[in-house]
Amino acid sequence: MSEPAPPLLVADDLVKRFPSGVLAADGVSFAVRHGETVGLVGASGSGKSTVARMVLGLVRPDAGSVRFDRHELTALPPRRLRPLRARLQFVPQSPRTSLNPHLTVAQSIAFNLRAHGWRRGDVRARVAELLDQVGLPAGYAARRPAELSGGQAQRVAIARALATRPDLVVCDEAVSALDKSVQAQILNLLAGLQRDTGVAYLFVSHDPAVVEHLCDRVLAMRDGRVTSPPKERE
Ligand SMILES: Nc1ncnc2c1ncn2[C@@H]1O[C@H](COP(=O)(O)OP(=O)(O)O)[C@@H](O)[C@H]1O
Ligand SMILES: [Mg+2]
Repeated sequence: MSEPAPPLLVADDLVKRFPSGVLAADGVSFAVRHGETVGLVGASGSGKSTVARMVLGLVRPDAGSVRFDRHELTALPPRRLRPLRARLQFVPQSPRTSLNPHLTVAQSIAFNLRAHGWRRGDVRARVAELLDQVGLPAGYAARRPAELSGGQAQRVAIARALATRPDLVVCDEAVSALDKSVQAQILNLLAGLQRDTGVAYLFVSHDPAVVEHLCDRVLAMRDGRVTSPPKERE
């Protein structure tokens, strides 16, 4: 019958040198399959965020390619990248700075839906459904970021990322700013959402303990290169 499905994401030999001369990515290759969680660990400055940003199309590599479901992202003009963005979303480290302080929780999530063409009438029900999925009471829809704890704000960021039913969510240090107990809650939430929706994660963290918990496979980065399998903990 048909061949096995190709990976959802293939990063191939990515290279990025910043004008400062720093070689942040030096031939990085990996794949993420549908529905799996791939960890990217490494010390601060090893190039993880640069790789994450190249995967998201936010940083253009000097060489190499990013294929997302057969689309060569690095070659796409912004106009063609935009519809794919709905399927390739992002959870940042610090939701309280990434969430617009002037928007309510509902408005932040709705903004992402509206940006991808959701009709106003469908948005309200979807926002309510998402708040429930990430474990926030319905009344939080009217709150602003200043009225949320770090964990609650991260739940909102996750709801916003999942709103458009993406195939892949890139999480860059998504629990690094949280206390250990809250970290565990958010990691459990992410795992549960994956079971429910089949979303794949590229999960970036400097903390091997966090990654071990969640990931099917872990890649270790050092000085811009993938050195996996990861080295013993220091
Ligand atoms: N926009 C940038 N301009 C110049 N250098 C950068 C930029 N972003 C990252 N770097 C440098 O690239 C290297 C890798 O950074 P980064 O990808 O943020 O690593 P990590 O996420 O693993 O901490 C670091 O030396 C960092 O200082
Ligand atoms: Mg980083």
